Amino acid sequence: MKLFAILLMIAAPAFAASRNNQERVENLLKRMTLDEKLGQLQQSGGPVEGSLDLVDQAGKGRLSSTLNVRGAKAINQIQRAAVEKSRLKIPLIFAFDVIHGYRTIFPIPLAMASSWDPAVVESASTLAAREAWMDGLRWTFSPMLDIARDPRWGRVAEGNGEDPYLGSAMARAYVRGYQGDDASAVGRLAACAKHWVGYGAAEAGRDYSTTEISERTLREIYFPPFRAAVDAGVWTFMSAFNDLDGVPASANHWTLTDILRHDMGFKGFVVSDWDSVLQLIAHGLAANEADAAKRALSAGVDMEMNSTTYMKELPSLIKAGKIPMAVVDEAVRRVLNAKFALGLFEHPYADESKKAGAPDEESRTVARRAAERSLVLLKNDNGVLPFFPGIKKLAVLGDLADDGAAVLGSWSGDGRPEEAVTILAGIRDAVPETQVVFSSETVIKDADAYVLVLGEKGDMSGEASSRAYLGLRGEDLALARGALITGKPVVAVLLNGRPLTLTGIVDEVPAIIEAWQPGTEGGHAVASALFGKINPGGKLPISFPRTVGQVPLYYNHKSTGRPAEDENHFTSKYLDAPVTPQFPFGWGLSYTKFSLSDLRLSAPKIARGGSVTVKASVSNDGAMAGDEVVQLYIKRRGVSVTRPVRELKGFSRVALPQGAKKEVAFTLGPKELGFFGLDMRYSVEPGPVEVFVGTSSVGGLSASFTIGE
Ligand code: NOJ
Repeated sequence: MKLFAILLMIAAPAFAASRNNQERVENLLKRMTLDEKLGQLQQSGGPVEGSLDLVDQAGKGRLSSTLNVRGAKAINQIQRAAVEKSRLKIPLIFAFDVIHGYRTIFPIPLAMASSWDPAVVESASTLAAREAWMDGLRWTFSPMLDIARDPRWGRVAEGNGEDPYLGSAMARAYVRGYQGDDASAVGRLAACAKHWVGYGAAEAGRDYSTTEISERTLREIYFPPFRAAVDAGVWTFMSAFNDLDGVPASANHWTLTDILRHDMGFKGFVVSDWDSVLQLIAHGLAANEADAAKRALSAGVDMEMNSTTYMKELPSLIKAGKIPMAVVDEAVRRVLNAKFALGLFEHPYADESKKAGAPDEESRTVARRAAERSLVLLKNDNGVLPFFPGIKKLAVLGDLADDGAAVLGSWSGDGRPEEAVTILAGIRDAVPETQVVFSSETVIKDADAYVLVLGEKGDMSGEASSRAYLGLRGEDLALARGALITGKPVVAVLLNGRPLTLTGIVDEVPAIIEAWQPGTEGGHAVASALFGKINPGGKLPISFPRTVGQVPLYYNHKSTGRPAEDENHFTSKYLDAPVTPQFPFGWGLSYTKFSLSDLRLSAPKIARGGSVTVKASVSNDGAMAGDEVVQLYIKRRGVSVTRPVRELKGFSRVALPQGAKKEVAFTLGPKELGFFGLDMRYSVEPGPVEVFVGTSSVGGLSASFTIGE
């Protein structure tokens, strides 16, 4: 990996000194035939190894990009046809779903969001980019920035959870991690913000389903992480599969052009999702393929992934005057501009002497740290954890404990389960003196302590993996019962890609660690936490329901006119379940004890457009070093529209030695205090602002100030 740092230093200035790209694009555009232009708008789903057909199409200038072809040799074979055989020698850009790692697999994005530490995401995606780059790739379909409020939707695993503020912080970190300062540099990839937009609001949590989202909610909840990605310089966007209030996202001129281009100022290009242009027919919007092509291109989808409606249908549409050539030219211009900026014309080929190899020490260190910082201690009654030293016989129970695919999770790139450290292997490495016994299905009777590894198999979340039941599997519950009967200490480690309902363990098992799908080094990270080598400090980026009947359930909901009151029947609640979550957004414990004090605001009143500084102190009053994530929320009342009961507006993960105290400061300015009012304009409205500083979205210290007229 050291070689990389050197290469990076030599190569970056060369790329940076590229000629005037705009001129180069226009020169090329003038010389292109319609067929060549449409070629630049086509991405092929193609086989992993490439194929003669792809080589042939590239040689004819009828292909702009592939998705899934990997390996320097296979990539160069296709690239050579484009660069040496095609008339205009326009290079292809090679893409792949590098979602949470390429060969070294990091925790799933939902887990990394639990770190509340954007630096973790940045270092993981920098490393992922480097590995993918070695296999010839130049473009990743990540980050997924869809806000997810419904854990039935299996793709919650791929995102940053339910909150737009946290999601925006993570969006910036991913884009920086993949693209660096200059996405054309050695070891960098173009990132892709997906899925634009609203895809996470799939009705009933069923993947690909319809979405109905108000304009205000779109602007305040679903758009912000994407805007953060644009501001961070993301090169590409992917248009989503979902129908959005009657206009599928891949034919939606308002979101693709008015919002994305005009409001947000996005300068890169938009690729469709897989067949999402063709699927405009299945949606019932487009009458046929020609209609689908016309709608998608006119809305602002520049490149078509896999389906070929542009290639097939645009020539006659243009001839018939149904689409102006200028619309095609604009899409081609955006694609070519990105290709120039990404340095593909100067450096089209992959280095065949390189190959992404098995995870090495450096990448394992980054993966382990990411996994450690992603762990969330959900519960720890009577300080069961960390385990007492010198356990003689430890039983590890549950098939997931020995399952490499379960620690990797879905979308695990080129990751190999056999290269992953399972929970069982991690525990064995951590306590060589202890007799560690394992059973996937029965309870070992004479152990001194029990670790239950429960949750979901690797493929139970991710794309097309929606679930109507979120409870633990029957076999997991049976193991938990068996272990609890022994009367010995029992802890549960959860491996899962989404919030689960934890009936059967949440009241019964004294300690629970949420490990999500923690990646290649997951087993080591979990073992470090079990035996107190590290102190878990992650926080939930998404609420855990008690029962599936409560979903969608999220902390930043509206109050309603009849907020739930136990003693009042006619209030907003259930007859058969509480309204509160099992574990709220922002929740996570520690082996040590933290307290917050001295909440202070810099002023009792500010002008519209002004800012206030919020300060509080956090102390570690317990018996070991640890991290606390201090969270800042606000609540507005008496303004032009109702506001959420709380909104996250700042956070800081603070590491504190035992006995230490630190002051944390946040600024609330127009960016944090504004919202979309009745006129659907973003502004700061006068009135009172309640401020909460806490360690989760519930409770905390509070104060208030006023925004003047
Ligand atoms: C469909 C998924 O929705 C998208 O996230 C992914 O990038 C593409 N397929 C390509 O694999």
